Amino acid sequence: MKTTRGKIIWVAGPAVKADGMMGAKMYETVYVGEQRLIGEIIKLTGDVAFIQVYENTSGLRPGEPVESTGSPLSVSLGPGMLGSIYDGVQRPLDVIGRIAGGFIKRGIKADQLPMDKKWRFIPLVKKGEEAGPGDILGEVPETPLITSKVMVPPDARHGKLTYVAPESDYVVDDVVAEIETKDGKQPLKLYHRWPVRRPRPFSRRLDPEVPTITGQRVLDTFFPISKGGTACIPGAFGTGKTVTLHQLAKWSDAKVIFHVGCGERGNEESEVLTEFPHLKDPATGRPLMERTVLIANTSNMPVAAREASIYTGVTMAEYFRDMGYDVLLVADSTSRWAEALREISGRLEEMPAEEGYPSYLASRLAEFYERAGRVVNIGKPERVGSVSLVGAVSPPGGDFTEPVTTHTMRFIRTFWALDANLAYTRHYPAINWITSYSAYVETVRKWWAENVSPDWYDLRFQAYRLLQREADLLELVRLLGPEALPDEEKLILDVARMIREGFLQQSAYDEVDSYCPPPKQVKLISLFVKFHKLAEEALRRGVPLKEIRAMTIIPKLIRAKYEIPNNRLDLISELEKAMVESFERLLLTEKAEVKVA
Ligand SMILES: Nc1ncnc2c1ncn2[C@@H]1O[C@H](COP(=O)(O)OP(=O)(O)OP(=O)(O)O)[C@@H](O)[C@H]1O
Ligand SMILES: [Mg+2]
Repeated sequence: MKTTRGKIIWVAGPAVKADGMMGAKMYETVYVGEQRLIGEIIKLTGDVAFIQVYENTSGLRPGEPVESTGSPLSVSLGPGMLGSIYDGVQRPLDVIGRIAGGFIKRGIKADQLPMDKKWRFIPLVKKGEEAGPGDILGEVPETPLITSKVMVPPDARHGKLTYVAPESDYVVDDVVAEIETKDGKQPLKLYHRWPVRRPRPFSRRLDPEVPTITGQRVLDTFFPISKGGTACIPGAFGTGKTVTLHQLAKWSDAKVIFHVGCGERGNEESEVLTEFPHLKDPATGRPLMERTVLIANTSNMPVAAREASIYTGVTMAEYFRDMGYDVLLVADSTSRWAEALREISGRLEEMPAEEGYPSYLASRLAEFYERAGRVVNIGKPERVGSVSLVGAVSPPGGDFTEPVTTHTMRFIRTFWALDANLAYTRHYPAINWITSYSAYVETVRKWWAENVSPDWYDLRFQAYRLLQREADLLELVRLLGPEALPDEEKLILDVARMIREGFLQQSAYDEVDSYCPPPKQVKLISLFVKFHKLAEEALRRGVPLKEIRAMTIIPKLIRAKYEIPNNRLDLISELEKAMVESFERLLLTEKAEVKVA
């Protein structure tokens, strides 16, 4: 490949200008300086290249050489990614640490995948067969939880297989197949490379009909995200962004999880790095890391790597999507990512737009979120995979009108708005049910009806109506005082409180409550909706509100979420029966022989 050699003319933090770069291309990777630091060309004017450098540039001087590599910033996709902890340009942090003796040294070319580890390759095709882009050549049992598929790279040509390796152990660099195309023979290995800023192709997009089940009631029942969907979770300092994303990583029914950490608080990243390796996969009890990849940008790491990290992450996520898996990528927090963008743009002395962010903030966010989707993959055999993207946003002062939040809202379809007041009153998850929304409610409705309960849609609608009425009524109460309301409306306030405490609030730290299976969500919400119907009827028949309020079943209904084990839904049915009976008793003491329907 043709390389261009230039010289540094200017250095400002992570940004470098070099001249003599005629012939270099946008987004080409370059080696910068005597130490050959890794960088990427982000702007070209004439023969001057603007470069963002992924490593600490202190000591770098004008006059030092810059050499282009001929290829764009790329990742290596193959066995060995699962369980890894990478920096923003896919350098394994533990390997870098080991080579450099505990701290990250510059200019170290760590292998992105373990090159000496042997993997069992089980071929699924035969010599002489036709093969093309995306076709599965064979499998590698990568971890006990995930079997990796070895695929013909999406940019390869169609041809005939002239060689397929027998089942045996191979390193990623071994040739396991060879394809004869009209351009000649192409060796295929256990891995291939792909540029991070280029979406991997798929055959066609599917409607967002399947929800990502998270086991978090307020999300699944009120503001669902589909498989292949997008969501953002904005929230002020300490409102619960990280805890919610961790709950998703732990409990969601995605098969492969990517956690991109953009150093929120200094120690938060190290919390992830120490906590995740101890987490267990709830379905199997095996280490969660067997299906997880962490990408970490600690605050002492160069900002340019942080800018690249979300694209690095989503490219690796697409690779597992292409195998036919459902993948979830969470990014915490995209505000820190946007700050990296702002810092580099500032160093390049670009014209700032809103609040100092570059004018291309929105298009960069779009380039990330547009890569979500549930798709039919290219290649044989036909398979469906998805990438779902969830980004935390930390608006300064919790002001959702700032640029990162407002631009993100243009590209996502589920909005989980964290509310500082709720967090302050310890209502967790502190997701505001009035300002949050999901565009997937209608699209996942059929899935819930067919797989969980035909009543899901109506029940969530009725419960949500009660919560909305509560919000309106509370306005009135503020103006006129609680006694101004008629009993039916006081009852709505009571039931809404029950829904908030018994359904919306969910402790991430309670053994039972941390995850709520979909059928339990429907049964619980049904309890409260039914309670409201029965109580309304009782009021109509003359039962005083204070007697309804004194019902001893109420605290049991509220505690059902954690008192009743997740596998004992029969106990919720019993509780419901007991509730109906308590209402019947109330009516009997009021007027003889009245039966509740
Ligand atoms: N679902 C939950 N269940 C129980 N506690 C919660 C829950 N969500 C948040 N919390 C509490 O809120 C605290 C702060 O949450 P978290 O660290 O996720 O906030 P954050 O928005 O990521 O903050 P920062 O802006 O500092 O990154 C947690 O330590 C925990 O005590
Ligand atoms: Mg956080």
